[in-house]
Amino acid sequence: MWMTGLSGSGKSTLARGAERVLHDAGRYCVVLDGDEVRRGLNRGLGFSEEDRAENIRRIAEVARILLDAGAIVIVAVISPTRGMRRAAREIVGERDFVEVFVRCPLEVCRGRDVKGLYAHAASGRVAQFTGVTAPYEEPESPAVVIDTSSTPVETSIGVLLEQVRLRGEER
Ligand code: ADX
Repeated sequence: MWMTGLSGSGKSTLARGAERVLHDAGRYCVVLDGDEVRRGLNRGLGFSEEDRAENIRRIAEVARILLDAGAIVIVAVISPTRGMRRAAREIVGERDFVEVFVRCPLEVCRGRDVKGLYAHAASGRVAQFTGVTAPYEEPESPAVVIDTSSTPVETSIGVLLEQVRLRGEER
């Protein structure tokens, strides 16, 4: 499940929520979260277009390894451009790549500002901030769209889990 969306759209919350349910059911599920991966594996990468592309390439490669090891993989990264997501799809493979658009209007993300980064972006303390001073290209034909501004968290998690279930049945 490749979740794309603005910072603060709810990607991590939904990924962790789905992970909790899957773990409780005894399923092998791994979450690759941009914020966390950037603290370890991808430490040193910034937010230029080039660094984001490298961040996403590595995450896609790790996702592929985990899929081959039998895991359900949930990725939560902004992955702001269509090109970056296309590259990820190529690495993961068409058959396994499920693009989930976590949609949330910029103003709602700004209002939530869980990490205070929208305020920092406005004051110029954070550069190249997605949706403000760096682009976010909405997916053209995502497999799933979850609008977190209008959908309760538990419902959104349910939508994600339903996708996991459907994909499992296809195998
Ligand atoms: S991506 O663009 O490379 O896909 P990723 O999902 O890994 O981004 O990381 C995004 C997270 O990094 C945000 O949720 C936010 O917490 C933090 N962050 C710090 N600086 C920026 C920035 N300039 N643009 C976007 N996110 C940023």
